Amino acid sequence: MASFGEEFCCGIAFMDNGTKKFISELNKLSHAMKTGEGRQHVVFALDYLAEYTEKHLKDEEKVMIKYRFHDIENHAVQHDELRTELSKVIGEYAKRGADHAFPLLIQRLMADWLSRHISKSDKILGDYFIAMVNKSKTS
Ligand SMILES: [Fe+2]
Repeated sequence: MASFGEEFCCGIAFMDNGTKKFISELNKLSHAMKTGEGRQHVVFALDYLAEYTEKHLKDEEKVMIKYRFHDIENHAVQHDELRTELSKVIGEYAKRGADHAFPLLIQRLMADWLSRHISKSDKILGDYFIAMVNKSKTS
């Protein structure tokens, strides 16, 4: 089971809350897989991920624009890659439902996002926001 710790914390409340929820949803999926209910859980995991990419990633993008984040292009490309990957997975699910490998596919997609994006790119973004906030306090 994954847990929210230093490696995923970026210091910005709305992002950290989003990460806590993301980890909790990943753990729900992992738990369902352990108890033999992974395939039945797929629909909930996909619903959650659709909401995450719609709402949470969009919120991040709005704040990046507002605070003129220098690396917005690369960061937004990564968000779009997740959206593309997810819409492929949702398309597959709509076509043929969840076979036995499907829960593992979603589990990997989520674990990869945690290690490739949340623990790296979001931390850089968090540092930038913190610097911006501190700057506005002193000026
Ligand atoms: Fe991000």
